[in-house]
Amino acid sequence: KTIAVLNGPNLNLLGTRQPEIYGRQTLADIEAMCVKHSKSKGFDLRFQQTNIEGELVSMVQEARTCAAVLINAAGYTHTSVALLDALLTVDAPVIEVHLSSPHKREAIRHRSVIAPACTGVIAGFGALSYRLALDAAIALVDGSLG
Ligand code: DQA
Repeated sequence: KTIAVLNGPNLNLLGTRQPEIYGRQTLADIEAMCVKHSKSKGFDLRFQQTNIEGELVSMVQEARTCAAVLINAAGYTHTSVALLDALLTVDAPVIEVHLSSPHKREAIRHRSVIAPACTGVIAGFGALSYRLALDAAIALVDGSLG
């Protein structure tokens, strides 16, 4: 069973990008943590990042065969109908992930265009958001809280 973790624009800069908001961990650090955690739970991980909206759409399409999809769509969270449409085709659980809590921030970040296609949202816990989202995805897939 594979879980896809898809990351949108500017997340390749984590570590140096506004560390007071996003923390000092790099995306490679987060990937390593996610791989280790999912492996310990018996899942394979597909971890991807792109700055390009259409590529993110294609990554979602390719993730339709996965057991669950985590997505930090970054700036496209607030703008992309194409991404919403792609996510609406995914039958598996989809978890929207954010490092920061968008609701604590500027009004432009308060609306998620993709939320209607997502099972739930985990935001505001920094890199821990990814691990919490993995646990949520695994619980949903395995049908247990264990
Ligand atoms: C983000 C929040 C978005 O508003 C922002 O555009 C990002 C990162 C987060 O993980 O906190 O790029 O998705």
